[in-house]
Amino acid sequence: MLTSDCLGINEKGHLTIGGVDTVYLAEKYGTPLYVMSEDKIRNIAKSYLESIRKNYSGYGVPIYASKAFCCKEICRIIDSEGLDMDAVSKGEIYTAIKAGVNPKKLHFHGNNKTYDELFYAVENDVGDIIADSFEDINRVDEIGGKLNKKVNLTLRIKPGIDAHTHEFIRTGQIDSKFGFALENGEAEKAAEMAFKAENISFKGVHCHIGSQIFDVEPFVLASKVMLSFIKQVKDEYGIEIENLNLGGGFGIKYLDSDPFLEYEVYMESVSKAVHEECKRLSLKIPNIYIEPGRSIIGEAGITLYTVGSVKEIENVRNYISVDGGMGDNPRYALYQAEYTCVIANKMNENPEYTATIAGKYCESGDLIQENVKIVKPVAGDILSVLSTGAYNYSMASNYNRNPRPACVMIKDGTDRVIIKRETFEDLIKNDI
Ligand code: LLP
Repeated sequence: MLTSDCLGINEKGHLTIGGVDTVYLAEKYGTPLYVMSEDKIRNIAKSYLESIRKNYSGYGVPIYASKAFCCKEICRIIDSEGLDMDAVSKGEIYTAIKAGVNPKKLHFHGNNKTYDELFYAVENDVGDIIADSFEDINRVDEIGGKLNKKVNLTLRIKPGIDAHTHEFIRTGQIDSKFGFALENGEAEKAAEMAFKAENISFKGVHCHIGSQIFDVEPFVLASKVMLSFIKQVKDEYGIEIENLNLGGGFGIKYLDSDPFLEYEVYMESVSKAVHEECKRLSLKIPNIYIEPGRSIIGEAGITLYTVGSVKEIENVRNYISVDGGMGDNPRYALYQAEYTCVIANKMNENPEYTATIAGKYCESGDLIQENVKIVKPVAGDILSVLSTGAYNYSMASNYNRNPRPACVMIKDGTDRVIIKRETFEDLIKNDI
């Protein structure tokens, strides 16, 4: 029933995270509340780093995709583990810099970076800009010229692999707003532009095939496609691209029934393919970058809510309403994302009640999960949604003028606030 090894049940029958009683946390900080386990985040970060060491002799680095959860303390934790960071906006770059991250360790993505964002990135010596369009290449070149800097550039390529959770197909990816397509010669043209641009140092190629993927095969295929592009560029220009970034997308456990993924198995399979393919194509092994977001942070987090009402509509359904919802977790409303929901103060009782977990927002679609098996709660019980560490806080909103929840980090059995709960004053601070 528990989706992560940072979770447990204590002698009171309460859910724990990092060994700390969640009912205690709900009382101390109020709800809704995000809670994260620092050890869990650090352990996964370490294992990715170790994997790059092992499989590529340390030539490369894991890059944390900060869109999954970006705040100063998460940036500090990731940085202290030696990972680089992927940013997709000036705001994410700004947060990382304010947290003390060396901008050289930042990789700046985005399909429509504004001139202002690119200028900010180049001015602050962001280490790698991933060009997503011809306009990006031209703008980076122009800004490099203005600031008298040679800018490191990577090209985002669409490898033509469309990955899904349980299947993959190899066509259709040309229809994506991200990156340069291989099929129509765009990628080749982008490479030519990048080589010719005076103020650009063309360092790498990048691909990202999707998110919450459980199959290893699409990653293996993508690495082969990317290496054959590196070979094509080498044959044409006599230059071997140094960096290969294979993106993120490893799946995590939201439900008990989700497969348990050993990321190391993925890393080994991809590494085997990279080594074999480089040998076959007479290429040097490039520096390998991967960009996990969800798999570093997702299982490390949970959300705590207080149950407000239980509404039983005979022959229709039972609604359990909580004091949060789509404002702190829009993922069910957006993607019908699956989650495990538990009553944190009644963990030893049998989850025999079928109910839909609803939020407090003024929308019928404000649901956290439909028709789940759960212990029947009463008002005042603490309901926890598991594996909410990724794309929850980072996608939260103030809809209905609800303040965003606080986030508490657990480390060595102690709790500390890393993001304060928003106040009502925060809500109106920009109102004139
Ligand atoms: N690299 C690039 C270029 C990406 O676009 C993404 C995710 C990642 C890395 C990290 O992927 P991950 O390892 O986290 O799967 N909001 C959606 C997910 C959007 C992912 C966007 N890009 C959700 O809540 O499921």
